[in-house]
Amino acid sequence: MAEIAEASNLSFVLNKPFDVKFEQKPKPSIESPHDVLVAINYTGICGSDVHYWVEGRIGSFVVDSPMVLGHESAGTIVAVGSAVKTLKAGDRVAIEPGKPCRYCTPCLAGHYNLCDDMRFAATPPYDGTLTGFWTSPEDFCYKLPEHVTLQEGALVEPLAVAVHIVKQAEIKPGHTVVVMGAGPVGLLCCAVAKAYGASKVVSVDIQPARLEFAASFAATHTFTPERVSAEENAARLLKEAGIVGGADAVIDASGAEPSIQTSIHVVRRGGVYVQGGMGKPDINFPIMALCVKEVTAKGSFRYSSGDYKLAVEFLSSGKVDVKRLITGTVKFEDAEQAFKDVRAGKGIKVLIAGPNEKSCRCIGGH
Ligand SMILES: NC(=O)c1ccc[n+]([C@@H]2O[C@H](COP(=O)([O-])OP(=O)(O)OC[C@H]3O[C@@H](n4cnc5c(N)ncnc54)[C@H](O)[C@@H]3O)[C@@H](O)[C@H]2O)c1
Ligand SMILES: [Zn+2]
Ligand SMILES: [Zn+2]
Repeated sequence: MAEIAEASNLSFVLNKPFDVKFEQKPKPSIESPHDVLVAINYTGICGSDVHYWVEGRIGSFVVDSPMVLGHESAGTIVAVGSAVKTLKAGDRVAIEPGKPCRYCTPCLAGHYNLCDDMRFAATPPYDGTLTGFWTSPEDFCYKLPEHVTLQEGALVEPLAVAVHIVKQAEIKPGHTVVVMGAGPVGLLCCAVAKAYGASKVVSVDIQPARLEFAASFAATHTFTPERVSAEENAARLLKEAGIVGGADAVIDASGAEPSIQTSIHVVRRGGVYVQGGMGKPDINFPIMALCVKEVTAKGSFRYSSGDYKLAVEFLSSGKVDVKRLITGTVKFEDAEQAFKDVRAGKGIKVLIAGPNEKSCRCIGGH
């Protein structure tokens, strides 16, 4: 414990686009009796972290004062508040990185991802988890089973995003599902759709390497769109995958306009389409096809009640093997290089070891 008390709270801070620094921040302390203090072990880099680093904003969220990046973390409990019952020092946990108000109408309805007053890690103005220590409410830390590593624990966040998307898609056993985009979110949607009993899962991407990985990971079929109309791509996809009459559910995890358009032509009459990808805020959308096919269209934003719990259960039971998505781990000091590599599209999911992490076998070794 003495070592922990003296340990570093070095944090990876974004000042403005492409301008980052390492800063020793004051170590947080437990303020509520329901809080726990977690030493961060590993953090995954997410597209949104990279987006803030490159653009300094996502939509109306603008980084106008320095902000600690990162929100996909697993860590080890170092202290607990007096009212904490389920966790103790030494427990290894996946951290759910949002702090909802718990009082507004969406919160009270269990949809706390839609909270009017959410404080979410690395969404301005709130600091993220690329830091030494993090305080969290007890119920937003999920204990990892013995056989699940802390590296895998860092993947619970994107897995929970996929769980929420797949729940929105209302997938039932035997369904045919098309997933646009084979990045970490799309790949995990394929795996979760299978875990929900989908019998055919088609992964769609423009990068052959990603499709190759998808086929070995969770997709039963893959499809590469071409520079033809959305209707034509949809017809080709359905034919190649042997789907008659359209897919039961289509998930967009690319955010790309052409794949969103294709989604509406791929979904069956009366099917479900879920928008998970976040690309351009406004696009051309085939609204007539949506209308005449009575497609149910839904958005999906982060995760809410039960999603993290189910994500940990999928890891624990081996239904979803996130280990294969981990490209490698870098030292905390190399965080900026890791951001550059992710931006350049190297690998699938890169993890950054926490500043106090001594035992990682990092890329480059130490
Ligand atoms: N809804 C949420 O809560 C939530 C949470 C996390 C991420 N996201 C979003 O989900 C999306 C996926 O995240 P990720 O981390 O997997 O990102 P990613 O960038 O690694 O993956 C996107 C994939 O889409 C592919 N793609 C691009 N254009 C395409 C096209 N025309 N057709 C098919 N595929 C195409 C890319 O090649 C890439 O492999 C992003 O837009 C991200 O912002 C949403
Ligand atoms: Zn993320
Ligand atoms: Zn709320």
